[in-house]
Amino acid sequence: MPEADCGEHPPYPLANRYMISSSPPNPYQRLRAYLTSHPRVWLVTGAAGFIGSSLVGELLALGQLVVGLDNFSTGYQRNLDDVVTGAAAARFKLIRGDIRDLDDCRLACDGVDYVLHQAALGSVPRSIEDPITSHEVNVSGFLNVFVAARDARVSRVVYASSSSVYGDSTDVPQREDRVGRALSPYAATKKTNEAYAAIMQRTYGLRSIGLRYFNVFGARQDPNGAYAAVIPRWVGQLMAGEQCIAYGDGETSRDFCYIANVVQANLLAAAAADASATGDVYNIACGQQTSLNGLFTMLRAGLSEREPAIGAAHLEHGAPRPGDIRHSVADITKAQRMIGYCPMYDIARGLNEALEWYWASRAPLETMMVCRASV
Ligand SMILES: NC(=O)c1ccc[n+]([C@@H]2O[C@H](COP(=O)([O-])OP(=O)(O)OC[C@H]3O[C@@H](n4cnc5c(N)ncnc54)[C@H](O)[C@@H]3O)[C@@H](O)[C@H]2O)c1
Repeated sequence: MPEADCGEHPPYPLANRYMISSSPPNPYQRLRAYLTSHPRVWLVTGAAGFIGSSLVGELLALGQLVVGLDNFSTGYQRNLDDVVTGAAAARFKLIRGDIRDLDDCRLACDGVDYVLHQAALGSVPRSIEDPITSHEVNVSGFLNVFVAARDARVSRVVYASSSSVYGDSTDVPQREDRVGRALSPYAATKKTNEAYAAIMQRTYGLRSIGLRYFNVFGARQDPNGAYAAVIPRWVGQLMAGEQCIAYGDGETSRDFCYIANVVQANLLAAAAADASATGDVYNIACGQQTSLNGLFTMLRAGLSEREPAIGAAHLEHGAPRPGDIRHSVADITKAQRMIGYCPMYDIARGLNEALEWYWASRAPLETMMVCRASV
């Protein structure tokens, strides 16, 4: 996406006194430059997961001090090994712990400036099969992190919400103030998170920002298991010569968002100067609607450049699944206006990078593939 797409943005509380206004050119580049010379202490929960490990990697690249908390229920040590390398390892501390344990959360929050709370059990189908565990991790664990953050007097918590909160709303594009009824226990947990975050700010003054991620994709996203997301699952199946299946007619659409945009949004949200930006939620996506049929065509085209035989693959269709939203596309203007969010990767550019990574990692992935996944 061209930088010209980025509108005006608020100044940063950390940075505004120090910035040179003409350079670097966009809000995120300015924030990166500022953080590099003014390191802070960050807690990333879910640090061994897909999004958490990407946050850890970026923060370490910017010279920050990073604490990671994870119980490795869906995350992997290999994700951390990818991003905690060389001298940066001295600035990273891993706590193997569980957000359902308040003491683990207190230990993790000690001395921290910012919390990026990512730990949760993802997946709509998982939550339908086991709503109690999803609730314990996503709601009780969430509250533990917030209570610990409050008591440790952290400056701000940025937390992962989800586009699933839009539920049965048929408004397209989806705007933050128009949510429908939740369609799954997972969506209910994320809605509850947003309610608790607002209460924690109003009652105790703990500032937070919720980011409603739409379908995120990129390096290290897990292709394994029954709850894998559609992009890593299909990429793995195409590379392994297996059949890809879409639930429904394939015209279900999503706003696929590359991981670099999500990393940017987290850091911008942590640093946003405007106090009125806190206690609120923001869509984090590209604002681009892509059907599953369209996604399959893009993946097949990208991979057949590397292995021509993949060009003959086709998509089969299965029964639609309960809990799935039909169309999902974000209005991202509020995040652009309030936190300076400026997605630099559209789906095509993101897929180029993601496919590069999956292709380079293909041997181990092929041995891990299973045939079911969720969007
Ligand atoms: N990936 C997406 O498309 C997407 C979309 C919307 C929202 N989200 C949200 O973003 C966040 C990160 O998702 P992800 O895709 O990186 O998932 P992930 O499964 O790769 O990462 C989650 C991490 O949290 C850890 N974790 C789970 N339960 C824990 C517990 N009780 N204590 C400590 N750690 C625990 C896991 O081990 C894992 O490392 C989640 O909150 C998810 O709901 C993701």
